[in-house]
Amino acid sequence: MTLRPFDHALLDHSVYPRLATRLPIGIMGRTFYPFRSVDSTQNLARELAADGAPEGTVVVADHQTQGRGRAGRSWLAEPGANLLVSVLLRPPIPVARTPQLSLLVATASREAIEAQTGLPLRIRWPNDLMLGGRKVAGILTEAASGGQGLLHVVAGIGLNVNQTAFHEEIRERATSLALATGSPLEREPLLEALLAALNRWYAAYLETGFGPVRSAWRRNSATLGEWVASGPEIAGTAVDLDADGALVVSTASGVLKRVVAGEVQ
Ligand code: BTN
Repeated sequence: MTLRPFDHALLDHSVYPRLATRLPIGIMGRTFYPFRSVDSTQNLARELAADGAPEGTVVVADHQTQGRGRAGRSWLAEPGANLLVSVLLRPPIPVARTPQLSLLVATASREAIEAQTGLPLRIRWPNDLMLGGRKVAGILTEAASGGQGLLHVVAGIGLNVNQTAFHEEIRERATSLALATGSPLEREPLLEALLAALNRWYAAYLETGFGPVRSAWRRNSATLGEWVASGPEIAGTAVDLDADGALVVSTASGVLKRVVAGEVQ
């Protein structure tokens, strides 16, 4: 596969030096692209995917100049402080099932971070990782499809590890692992644990389907039991995660409604 010449110049194996020698973990990290600075690891992973990169390709960066969040927002992260990673997947599933992968990535990431830090993370539907009511990680899954169906999915994870100050727009709503534990953390073991958990959950998903992710997501949800609103149409108590990954909301009149995409307030 070919990267733009400019990207090759920026590849920097001192970003995660030990991890490179421990990959792949199952299928994760079959090819591994560490960067000091890129526009967005999502963009790089998407280009690699279009060039035929194998499933499990991992792109990481110390800094993003145009990090992207969900719903067209920016993802701002202090250089050198956090985990910014994109993983390429090529699941043999119908396009309609791709929202399940967002929940899978959240479930796997939550499990890995909790095992590494002992912190009690919860998942806000669909896939924000929360610590004490504040967001510590965001996940962006972007799918590409064609006439033959789903071509690939790029799952991007932004985890606030050692950042301790945040832009004023998110200051009240964001936190980091270092703020929660009271000391800085090494990012490399976290990334390794993350890739190992992703590998395990993804393999199980391909073998047995969404059931195990659904159960784990329900157990660790910050949303179920809470009052939520989605657009002008839906407001009520979140009561379940449906078999396709939709959030089931019971309105004040007791009608069940499904939120299939987007976010809830
Ligand atoms: C969100 O809005 O909650 C999703 C944030 C996803 C951020 C990650 S950082 C690594 C990858 N590259 C990007 O540009 N975005 C994702």
